[in-house]
Parts: sequence; structure tokens; C-alpha cells
Amino acid sequence: MSSSANTPSKPAAKTTGLHIGVTRPGVAKVDPIVTIDGVSRRFGGLTAVDVEHLEIPRGAITALIGPNGAGKTTLFNLLTGFDKPDTGSWSFAGKSLAGIPAFKVAQMGQVRTFQLTKALSLLTVLENMKLGAKDQRGEKFLYSIFPFLWKPKEAEIEAKAMELLKRFKLDAKKDDFAASLSGGQRKLLEMARALMTDPVLVMLDEPMAGVNPALTQSLLEHVLDLKTQGMTVLFVEHDMHMVRHIADWVIVMAEGRVVAEGPADEVMKNPAVIDAYLGSHQDADLGTITGRITLPKGKK
Ligand SMILES: Nc1ncnc2c1ncn2[C@@H]1O[C@H](COP(=O)(O)OP(=O)(O)OP(=O)(O)O)[C@@H](O)[C@H]1O
Ligand SMILES: [Mg+2]
Repeated sequence: MSSSANTPSKPAAKTTGLHIGVTRPGVAKVDPIVTIDGVSRRFGGLTAVDVEHLEIPRGAITALIGPNGAGKTTLFNLLTGFDKPDTGSWSFAGKSLAGIPAFKVAQMGQVRTFQLTKALSLLTVLENMKLGAKDQRGEKFLYSIFPFLWKPKEAEIEAKAMELLKRFKLDAKKDDFAASLSGGQRKLLEMARALMTDPVLVMLDEPMAGVNPALTQSLLEHVLDLKTQGMTVLFVEHDMHMVRHIADWVIVMAEGRVVAEGPADEVMKNPAVIDAYLGSHQDADLGTITGRITLPKGKK
């Protein structure tokens, strides 16, 4: 199978030995950073998420895949406090997150980006970055009446923002409105902004969607860099090429449930996974999906 010119021909070094025992949905991890138990979310008569047990391995890159409407974004919303489940409990780094609001979850080190980017278009690139800072001291009473107390912090925040913008090659655009960025640059800005809080776990919802092929390679590398720097990554993605290249572990959702999980190479060969994808993408996405999964020998 030919690989795209914009992705490395060799998969990145994979982290292995993440689970305990036989791979199956809900399998225990050696060092889980997120543990989910009995989490469900219904919208009217529809059960969008119904996860019995799931553990996300620490220090690795985990891909969450599954057909449209499988419940991936809903699960992200629940884990990050943007939505509340009907049942269940979940923890991050050993602390229960039930009832913790989104901004606190982010302060605790678990940040996420959005499927549809949420860069504020009428703010500049640099202003968007500053909004991502952990400690918005200017908002606090004392700091707001004694601005000299927060000015040094402001300078620190700006220095950090510029350093990240440089890393993401957006520094030349710092004074441009976010609205003027391309879709891919906006994804990069969102990822850079998420890093302003020095997160432990970075959750990316379709980082590759709408990204121009010229930027896909650098996006892949930025995600790999997060792991190198010691962060844990959980990302949702339909681009099987990206999943195969960078994911250490893959979790497959369908109709709200976890239907398969395991090391990327193993899961991507699972005929049930291939069927779930090809079966449900026949109309919309077959063109992008077909040819990106390595079919097991004998399967066409
Ligand atoms: N706020 C909501 N109100 C009603 N139904 C919703 C809401 N959010 C999600 N749903 C439904 O829940 C199901 C799961 O949606 P979700 O967005 O989590 O899927 P997904 O796996 O992220 O899909 P995609 O790959 O298309 O992004 C879908 O049937 C969706 O229509
Ligand atoms: Mg989604």
C-alpha cells in the first residue's frame, strides 16, 4: 500500500507493554491515567455513550476511532467536564472528576481541543494564546486593583506564548486575526494554546480534519513531540494513516460502546474493525478510508 508523500514511510517508535493480560475491551493498563466506569450519556432515546470500563494508558499516544456518531466526541465532552453523564464515574491521575467543571479539569492538567476549532477569530493569534494561560491573575480582585502585581506574570505568559508560537511556526502571525489562518494553522493554534497550561493529558478531537496535506506532516510530528516531552495523548481521528503511524494503542467505539482495543498494529488488522469502518463509511468517507487500512491477507 502506498503511503502519502506527507507522512513518514516508517511508523514512529511505538510504546509497547501498556496492558495487562489478554487484549479485550476494558483491558487493564499497567499505568492508567484515566479510568472510566459505567459512564453513559443519553440524548432522548439515543444512548450516545455507554462505556462499561475503560483505561487510558499514561505516557502513550492512544487513538479513539469509530464510525460517525459512535460517541467519540461525547465521551471527550464527558471526560473534560463539557457535558455531564447520566451514570458512571471516572478519574484522571487518581482523582475523581465527577462534577468538576471544564476550566478546573484543564487546570488539573487535562486539556482538549475541539473537532470544530474554537479559535476566537476576532482576537489575534497571540491573544488566543494568552487566553489559554493557566493562571488568569488579572481576573482576581487584588490583581485587578494592583496591576503591578500581575504585570510580571503577563510578561511571563507572553514569553511562553511566543515560545510555543515559534515551535508551531505561527510566530510570524502573532498579530494576525485568528480568522485569517488556514484550517490547518487554526488546528495548530488550538494545539499550541492547549499547551499554555502545561498539561499532563492532551486530548485532540480530529486534529487532522480539514488540514491541508502540506501541514499534515508537521501536525503528526507535533503530536509525537507531546509524547517525547512526557505528555499523554488521546486523539480522535478518521485518518487511518495517522492512526497507524503514531498511535501506540487504539480504542474502537461503535454505537457508544468500546468494541475493540489493543496495540495499533493488532487492532488495525481486526476484520471487525475494518468492517465497522468500511460498513459505515460507504457513502460519505469511503474514498478517504479505503486504502488507508492494511487489509489482512486474503481480504479485499
Ligand atoms: N447535544 C446533543 N444532542 C442530541 N444528540 C447528540 C448531541 N451530541 C451528540 N448527539 C448524538 O450522539 C451520537 C454520538 O455523537 P458524537 O458527536 O459523540 O459522535 P462522534 O463519534 O464524535 O462522531 P463523528 O465521527 O461524526 O464526529 C450521535 O448520534 C449524535 O447525533
Ligand atoms: Mg466527533
